Formats: sequence, C-alpha cells, structure tokens
Amino acid sequence: MFKKRILSGVQPSGNLHLGNYLGAIKNFVALQEEYECLYCIVDLHAITVWQEPQKLKEQTREVAAAFIASGLNPDKNIIFNQSQVHEHTQLAWIFNCVARMGWLNRMTQFKDKAGKDKENVSVGLFGYPTLMAADILIYKATHVPVGEDQKQHLELCRDIAQKFNHDYSDDVFPLIEPLIFKKSARVMSLRDASKKMSKSDVSDYSRVMLSDSEEEISLKIKKAKTDAEVFPDNKASAEKRKEVFNLMHIYASINEMEIDDVIKDFANTELSNFKKKLADSLISVLVPINKEMKKLISDGKYLDSILEKGAERASSLARPVIKEVYEKIGFLNR
Ligand code: TYM
Repeated sequence: MFKKRILSGVQPSGNLHLGNYLGAIKNFVALQEEYECLYCIVDLHAITVWQEPQKLKEQTREVAAAFIASGLNPDKNIIFNQSQVHEHTQLAWIFNCVARMGWLNRMTQFKDKAGKDKENVSVGLFGYPTLMAADILIYKATHVPVGEDQKQHLELCRDIAQKFNHDYSDDVFPLIEPLIFKKSARVMSLRDASKKMSKSDVSDYSRVMLSDSEEEISLKIKKAKTDAEVFPDNKASAEKRKEVFNLMHIYASINEMEIDDVIKDFANTELSNFKKKLADSLISVLVPINKEMKKLISDGKYLDSILEKGAERASSLARPVIKEVYEKIGFLNR
C-alpha cells in the first residue's frame, strides 16, 4: 500500500569513521539503484549535545561531501539537511505526544550517552528518538538502512506509527523495515572489540576516519589489537577471537566478499600479512573518497546548492503529509 521509499540520516557531529561508512553510507550507495531515497544530514539531532556553531556548518557540508564522494548521486537521491525542512520538527512534536515516557525510558542509547549525568543532559537527548521517527515517517518511508546501534530506535518508530494509526486513523503511517547489513552492522573498536567503533572513543587508534591519510590507516591497522596466533581456518574458531573477527568483517565488507571466502584466502597465514592486505583495501577505497571530499568541500557554494535543492524536494514530499496529519488530529489547516 505504501510506495517503497528509503530514508536514513547521519549526524554532523564530528568526523565520519569507518563504522559510519561501512554500516551506513556504503549501503546508501548500493540502495540508490533500487529505491527512491532520501538521505538526511541530521543537524537537529547533533545539537542534542552542544556544537560549536561554525563547526556545525562545516561538518554538515562535510557529511554532504562524504555522501557524494562515496557515490550518491545528488540528482537521483534527495540529499538535504534536516533543519531546512520544518515538517520534521512539526511531526516530532506530535510524536512527543504519541510516544510514552516508558518507551523512551527503555532506550539504551540514551542511557549510554547520559551515563551518570542523567539530570544534566538536554531534554532533546531524551526525546531524540521521537524526532528520528518523525524524520522517517514525514516521508512515509518504508525502509531504513542503519547500523545495528539504531535498531531499538527503529522499533520505537514502529510503535509510534502503530499508536498514531490506532489513535487517529488506520494506515496513515507505514510500519517501517530496518535494513541492517550483517557484515557491517556493528564495526567494532580497533582497540577493544567489545565496544563499537565510535567518534566519542578517547583513543584515535580505536577508529579509522574517512579523513585519514594512507599512513594513518596503515598505522592504525598495524596497531589494531589482535592476538599472536595465525589467521583462523574456520568460522567457529574465528568467532572466539573477537578482534580478529572484527577485522575479518571489515575486510569482507570493504572488499564485498563473504566471510567464508576471507577465511579460505587467509587460513593459517600470519596476521601481519592479513593486516597489510586489510590496510591496502581500506586505503584503496577510503583515500579516493577523502580526495573527492576535499575537492567538494573547497566549493562550499556547490554543496549548499545541493542541500537547498534537496530541501525543496524533501519539503514538497513532507508538506502533504503534515497536512494530512493535522487533519486527522483535528487541527485547523490553512
Ligand atoms: P549516527 O550519526 O550516529 O551514525 C550514522 C550511521 O552510521 C551507523 N554507525 C555504525 N554502523 C556500524 N558500526 C558502527 N560502529 C557504527 N557507528 C555508526 C549508524 O547506525 C547510522 O546508521 N540516530 C542516527 C541518525 C538518524 C537517523 C534518522 C537514522 C537521525 N534520524 C532517521 C535513520 C533514520 C544516528 O545518530 O546515527
């Protein structure tokens, strides 16, 4: 009943890392062939934690540049920043009145981010998932590609859609399907494979950045924590070695290979050799993206015009949805 449509978002709250690339952006590029796609730079989400204003602008352009440099076609896809399309916040308020406190209290990402300082974090950080649901449902998107860390937020989005439909009118919103790609669903830290790779980790050596040079990538992979054994020759023993398992997944994902084939290629060889091949693969994909990003960023006007056009196209899809929602709720529409 709903047209297949993709929406996903990336925060402009710091430089992008390999987890963002493999878990999200690389998949966005693959999906553009099959679906109508909207890709959003979620600046409203970024300010749930204070951002330096000038830097926020730069980082917004940087994410736009990363999308395009990775292969997203700005004519085919709608690329935009969230704050330019007002309907996101309009629908988010309505969803604040649909979602229940108990649902939001269960969000593990809020618990992780707030930590012991729960009383001092912004209200926005707590309400974040209702805005995320609005980002998706304002376009009646049906599929949402993300890394695994966002899964719980997408379940909440389904709950919100269901409750809205139940409270006001059936079938206003679709129940979305998460698209989580197994090999790259959770790229782990290079220093501690029990933690996901993230921009907030204190150690630079825990992550490869999209902006890293060849030398930095080589060094980070060389220093990545592993053990002293040779490369595993079967999946069961690989699974027991978390760090090696993580690197194997990164290798499989960046080279678009199956895990079994990676094992076949490297079984019983020295890890140092595998690490070198992994660094080479990362360099061959990430360094050209980085070069293209720099070129795009040097032309801020071009990026701004892409975002402006994207926002216009996104608004024209969002406007009739907010009108419909207002009507269902009983607001007087203009
Ligand atoms: P953000 O900006 O933290 O991350 C952007 C995307 O990168 C994925 N990701 C990872 N994937 C695998 N391994 C990792 N280590 C890793 N780290 C990050 C994330 O899962 C995400 O797909 N709340 C979202 C942004 C958002 C959104 C949306 C997403 C706002 N509205 C609507 C989808 C739909 C976030 O903070 O992503």
